[in-house]
Amino acid sequence: MTVLNITFCCTNTAPEPWLAGLHAALPQAEVAVWQPGAAQADYAVVWQPPQQFFDEQPQLKGIFNIGAGVDALLKLRLPPQAVVVRLEDAGMAVQMAEYVCQAVIRHFRDLEAYATDMRAGHWTYYKPRQRSDFPVGVMGLGVLGARVAQALAHFEFPVNGWSRTPKLLDGVRGFNGAAQLDAFLAASRVLVNLLPLTPDTTNILNRERLSRLQPGGYVINVARGAHLVDDDLLALLDSGHLAGATLDVFRTEPLPADHPFWREPRIILTPHTSARTLREDSIAQIASKMAAIERGEPVAGLVDVGLGY
Ligand code: NAP
Ligand code: GLV
Repeated sequence: MTVLNITFCCTNTAPEPWLAGLHAALPQAEVAVWQPGAAQADYAVVWQPPQQFFDEQPQLKGIFNIGAGVDALLKLRLPPQAVVVRLEDAGMAVQMAEYVCQAVIRHFRDLEAYATDMRAGHWTYYKPRQRSDFPVGVMGLGVLGARVAQALAHFEFPVNGWSRTPKLLDGVRGFNGAAQLDAFLAASRVLVNLLPLTPDTTNILNRERLSRLQPGGYVINVARGAHLVDDDLLALLDSGHLAGATLDVFRTEPLPADHPFWREPRIILTPHTSARTLREDSIAQIASKMAAIERGEPVAGLVDVGLGY
């Protein structure tokens, strides 16, 4: 059997368990951490590699990104013949469904207010709200967005979904394309962003679009910080059009200490943790796709570099 050479270049990731896992899953492979000047490899496993990495690896057959989003990767000059493969679910979809459902429910059920009251020793009740007054719009109905939309539908929220091409999902009212964006927003009070970051979607959560949400709107951004225009969100909170937000992703991460989001009590922050890369699931997926490519079989999850996702 041919020996495959895999080079590993992942920022902020301890390499040893990945190397051991990849080697166990692909015993015919030699797997090594990339160093400047390293020999040519067949495949790369990457997260936010430097441009120098690709400049020195011009003959790669495939580039495996250990995340779902490829926005940072596609900013680099990649070897044109290499296929780019992203993680598809690999244990992230259920995490994203958990996170988004808790954010919607925490808002809808006033759980933040109850937590504050109980800490202060106050036994108070808030009037129950109608689910029908809280239609949730999910932007992006891909691997993660579809799972989230269906999980929300199980909690009996009215759910709208927006995608580039039409999608049919049980319990989800579908909207697609730029022409239906305004109607999608007008039908939604809570907005969940699960779009990839591309030239078409950068700054998509701006004042004009967020103003189209129903009054008392709520924004949940779990995709990328550059989808959201931070000042526009703050202005719409100040005007009272928006009631709050849950944000997991930011233009600059970690969120700078002087950013106003830290001091806005209506915004709940988490540190880009809504759906984490799970090493074992990811290695199993990467190894099986690498083996399939070697056998000349088609694989799912190939990135369309032209579309940017
Ligand atoms: P995906 O399967 O590629 O789905 C992307 C969805 O967005 C598809 O439904 C696609 O429409 C839609 N879309 C793309 N461009 C659009 C446009 N211009 N207008 C309308 N819809 C558009 O991606 P995924 O695996 O679900 O991941 C989504 C994103 O989540 C990632 O790109 C990443 O940024 C983010 N993410 C965040 C975390 C975290 O921890 N915060 C973790 C993982 C991923 P079509 O279906 O018509 O193609
Ligand atoms: C995380 O943000 C990912 O894209 O997987």
